[in-house]
Amino acid sequence: MTTLKNDRFLRALLRESVDTTPIWMMRQAGRYLPEYRETRAKAGDFLSLCRNTEFACEVTLQPLRRYDLDAAILFSDILTVPDALGLGLYFETGEGPKFKKTIRTEQDIQNLPKINVNTDLDYVMNAVTAIRSALGGSVPLIGFSGSPWTLATYMIEGGSSKDYRFTKEMLYKTPELLHALLDHLADAVIDYLNAQIEAGAQAVQIFDSWGGALAHREYIDFSLNYMKKIVNGLTREKDGRRIPVILFTKGGGQWLDVMLDKGADAFGLDWTTRLDEARKLVNGRAALQGNLDPATLYGSNQTIEKAVKAMLDDAYANGEKTGYVANLGHGITQWVNPDMPKIFVDTVHEYSAKYL
Ligand code: CP3
Repeated sequence: MTTLKNDRFLRALLRESVDTTPIWMMRQAGRYLPEYRETRAKAGDFLSLCRNTEFACEVTLQPLRRYDLDAAILFSDILTVPDALGLGLYFETGEGPKFKKTIRTEQDIQNLPKINVNTDLDYVMNAVTAIRSALGGSVPLIGFSGSPWTLATYMIEGGSSKDYRFTKEMLYKTPELLHALLDHLADAVIDYLNAQIEAGAQAVQIFDSWGGALAHREYIDFSLNYMKKIVNGLTREKDGRRIPVILFTKGGGQWLDVMLDKGADAFGLDWTTRLDEARKLVNGRAALQGNLDPATLYGSNQTIEKAVKAMLDDAYANGEKTGYVANLGHGITQWVNPDMPKIFVDTVHEYSAKYL
């Protein structure tokens, strides 16, 4: 067992002291990197890239070669779980993810299989094992999953959606059906994340990318409570270290008060939330992560530096010296110039030292 050379990401999540602010970027491996596009071309398509251990490992490491990041994130996708449930994931160029089958009726939900993550999703665990070994203890590896609510939207709509028409129809017309689906997904996600932890993931993030589309009571009943169930079912210690859990509800910054007692160590925020106010509200009870507008990276060196410094001023405004991980407020986009994330990463490390 190699010891971790840089553990400031794990330390900040657990609110232990850090020398400088840790940073990683959501979707840090991806199309904005020419080397990613080259590896994807070799693999043939996105899903083949996820399923090939060597290629998945290679694209995970690519952003770490360019930038001084404090964590690696497993290269995979949240939609591997619905795919393993038999929905048939495919990507149409320029159109995002699609499923051959949708889940809309009681029969559809009853027919969902119970997955065996170690066989049905063995390629994910193989990637985790290979990445941990390739990292050689340089930085920790983050595992991840979608939240039940976010996965359900894709399964019910059959792909991405702007209005979640069929999902919300199910929520308001036949809520018991949606609950049955969410419960099935929560059980699958518990197994999936525990298998990632067993294979070597040192922290996990639950992406609740579309939780913010819900009204606040429905957010608690249909998204947060299932994430709570997951958190309670996870392995929380491995090889003598705590495995921190991060919940990221995009659009959920106004609900931090109800998220706090659900057992997660940290919460991700998007750029619509005031970080200084959020830190005051949380008041040392959890760590926060975020929240630079990903579009900031379309700007110049100077505008990026200015925005990053303002974010750090907000993050440390309440005098707390840890409990903060710098990140984007959502995934990096394919249009970012690959020279710009370096300005973000280096400014975080250099400027934050004065607060720590
Ligand atoms: O962060 C990382 O570097 C790890 C890789 C990662 C991917 N998807 C790779 C990917 C992670 C953590 C995800 C999570 C994911 N996938 C989410 C949650 C995060 C978020 O952004 O809200 C969601 C909603 C998905 C679903 C998904 N997968 C969509 C909507 C798309 C198409 C649109 C897009 O942004 O590309 C994907 C495909 C996908 N997943 C790509 C990558 C690099 C692009 C595929 C390609 O190479 O063409």
